[in-house]
Amino acid sequence: MPHGHSLSVLKTIRSLSQTTRLCRAARGPVVLVPTMGALHRGHAALIEKARSLAGREGLVVVSIFVNPTQFGPKEDFSRYPRPFAADRMLCAAHGADVIFHPTAEAMYPTENSTLVDETDVSAVLCGAARPGHFRGVCTVVLKLLQITQPEVAVFGLKDFQQCAVIRRMVRDLNVPVRIVPVATVREADGLALSSRNRYLTAAERAQAPVLRRALRAASAAFHAGETRAAKLRQLILKTLATAPLAHPDYVEIADADTLRPVREVRRGTVFALAVFFGQTRLIDNLWLR
Ligand code: PAJ
Repeated sequence: MPHGHSLSVLKTIRSLSQTTRLCRAARGPVVLVPTMGALHRGHAALIEKARSLAGREGLVVVSIFVNPTQFGPKEDFSRYPRPFAADRMLCAAHGADVIFHPTAEAMYPTENSTLVDETDVSAVLCGAARPGHFRGVCTVVLKLLQITQPEVAVFGLKDFQQCAVIRRMVRDLNVPVRIVPVATVREADGLALSSRNRYLTAAERAQAPVLRRALRAASAAFHAGETRAAKLRQLILKTLATAPLAHPDYVEIADADTLRPVREVRRGTVFALAVFFGQTRLIDNLWLR
């Protein structure tokens, strides 16, 4: 069984379930890190968190699967990067034990006629902008949880709504797993790491830190005493407008649990935005904790 310095790549559901079952009985917790690959330092932080939660004896499983059901018809499924050799090195360097790398045929042998639809937290923000996206995410994440049966699964706060939706699904469906969030990892200029950053042209990349700048401006104004959400939202939009290549998709100021817009900002509120640069859509958020 894989452990410590050895990393194994498993492609079938049967081999993965067997490995996690043996580990759980004999050694310690199984911790799952679901990803779509094209791994960067953000994913590395999740794997390191998983390693620390699993301990020396537990098993860290990183799934790499570009899930077709969460992409819209006009989105980047076919051109989504799949640099498997580099991903494997990153997983090994950060302490993963197993990469689960199934084919689409293994995950979806027939078209799933059972889909997981979280209908509340998913209804706003990215869920409103990308119809069907969170249905695809919930369906594949529940499948990965069923296959792996981990004690813990780790998710990044970069995808704030995804974390909230998964938490809600796990609660609503009594899935016996603990969801652990990890803070967003950024470039030195503030841009949140994302597999999609590589689509940016040099000019777009130069302007992309405006997402973080806009969020920081709003948080600074809040800490200076402005609590009216409408004013802070205006400030975010005004800051975004200083970057001519940035085209806001949405800017919302919301309650961190329900993701519904608030009028008055307080601790626990989240600023969330999605911005297009050409075809590339970037998201970021700032959670006033
Ligand atoms: P993917 O975009 O590959 O992201 C995998 C995990 O890495 C997610 O939990 C995401 O929030 C986290 N992540 C991405 N960028 C990060 C950053 N800069 N800092 C911290 N964490 C970051 O999210 C998905 O894949 C898919 O929707 C998936 C959950 C795997 C279902 O298909």
